[in-house]
Amino acid sequence: MKDFAKRVKDIEVSLIRYMPVLASKVPDAVSLGQGIPSFELPEYIRKKLIEALRSQKDINKYSLEPGLPILKEEIVKYLERTTAAKVNPEKEICITKGAIGGLFCTISTLVERKDEVILLTPAYEPHIEQVKFAEGKPVFIPLIESEGWKPDFEVINSAITKRTKATIICDPSNPTGSIFEKEDLEKIAELAQENDLFIITDETYDFLTYDNKKHFSLLSLPGIRDRLIACFSFSKKYALTGFRVGYIIAPEKILNEILKVHDESTICAPTPSQYAALFALTGPQDYIEKFKEEFRKRRELICQRLDRLKDLFEYQKPMGAYYVFPKIKLKMKSLEFSKKLLYEAGVITIPGIAFGPSGEGHIRLSFAGEEKEINTAFDRIEKFWQKL
Ligand SMILES: Cc1ncc(COP(=O)(O)O)c(C=O)c1O
Repeated sequence: MKDFAKRVKDIEVSLIRYMPVLASKVPDAVSLGQGIPSFELPEYIRKKLIEALRSQKDINKYSLEPGLPILKEEIVKYLERTTAAKVNPEKEICITKGAIGGLFCTISTLVERKDEVILLTPAYEPHIEQVKFAEGKPVFIPLIESEGWKPDFEVINSAITKRTKATIICDPSNPTGSIFEKEDLEKIAELAQENDLFIITDETYDFLTYDNKKHFSLLSLPGIRDRLIACFSFSKKYALTGFRVGYIIAPEKILNEILKVHDESTICAPTPSQYAALFALTGPQDYIEKFKEEFRKRRELICQRLDRLKDLFEYQKPMGAYYVFPKIKLKMKSLEFSKKLLYEAGVITIPGIAFGPSGEGHIRLSFAGEEKEINTAFDRIEKFWQKL
């Protein structure tokens, strides 16, 4: 048989998905692995969607490729309220199959063989693999852990070459739970302008920050908009992970190219999901505060439980999203440690190496699950640690 495409063979199997597969053979494993909010579909969305399935004649059909016009218009209004950005709903937005679909189309459009893409690491694993799939070269620039995962501008500056095409900013961050300061984002924008780079933002957790910190979107900087592709998601904020709907905002010239890839790979985001997103955006928002309150409590809980394991873990308190990325105080590779936790303690975690070289020696813990899951997982980790 002839060989598979090298660009596919070069991609690693996602450890975020591999660990749950291993865990499916471990009876009663409890998960701090994948970041799936535990909440059920909000009742309002459920009700409106059922009505729409009965009444909307076109709900079973493809929508226009860039998305339902009404949804695009509502998103544009929402972004104007939250970021002050003016977005043309006809020319600058595409509804995608989740943020991941938007990222995939964007990276495939911008990155080609040997292009370098600056990834501030630990980086969200699909950013790395999607750059590799586009035959680009991820350039890993470690964030400064002891300073709450802050970018190191000297190192970033010295890593920029003629081949650098883009940088990807994940804010709030999966896997570290850190958020970038506005001033740092402005510096990144300046660097991009000076060096003619595209900026791709992944703002999946834009709504989820803690301690009165606010997410700053680069969409708020008009001067950067001609080189900015911002990717958003409905998955986490509205508990719609399975619906697969997100969107990208990009200047018309770039979006027209991205749309070619979107059409060939997707045709359109699922129409019923676009309706769900519309109801999510235009309906009552009170449950989002409740979700956030839950995440706040879970963050406190997971930090308290980590504090009881100071000999094993050292961590930075998350300021956004629902992940914490503790350093393991053992001489053990992160994959080996995660496997040990799975097989000896029955706890699913994601090895830090999934997020680039500087993720080694860490594990990612998600606190998207319920408090009782977090407690069970940590009871087990404590027992495991006592034995060790
Ligand atoms: C940073 C980040 N980007 C993108 C995604 C995928 O989002 P979506 O469900 O919208 O594709 C996730 C999911 O965990 C994520 O954490």
